[in-house]
Amino acid sequence: TSAFPIFSQEEVTSHRSLEDGVWVTYKGGVYDITEFVAMHPGGDKILLAAGGALEPFWALYAVHNQEHVLKMLSEYKVGEL
Ligand code: HEM
Repeated sequence: TSAFPIFSQEEVTSHRSLEDGVWVTYKGGVYDITEFVAMHPGGDKILLAAGGALEPFWALYAVHNQEHVLKMLSEYKVGEL
């Protein structure tokens, strides 16, 4: 069993702006990256994934396929789908 709460896709989709919070999903995990947006090395492009899945974007920007990036993402986990 997981220590994290379960969120619906609708709940995730409702968080797609800096005002409402920026949530994304990755491999079944839900992440609140609101505080990370301003620190992202790739700038505002990160907001393209707001409210949805990272996978299609990270497939295009392979720079994310590194251990240190996944570790960074894990720090923002708030739940699971
Ligand atoms: C670079 C994290 C989402 C586009 C990076 C780097 C990190 C990072 C750590 C630097 C990697 C390195 O050089 O070793 C993240 C995290 C994301 C996220 C934690 C989600 C929570 C996205 C999305 C896009 C994107 C959705 C595109 C739609 C880019 C680009 C770079 C980059 C273009 C290269 C910037 C450069 O070197 O000029 N990201 N990223 N990222 N990211 Fe992201």
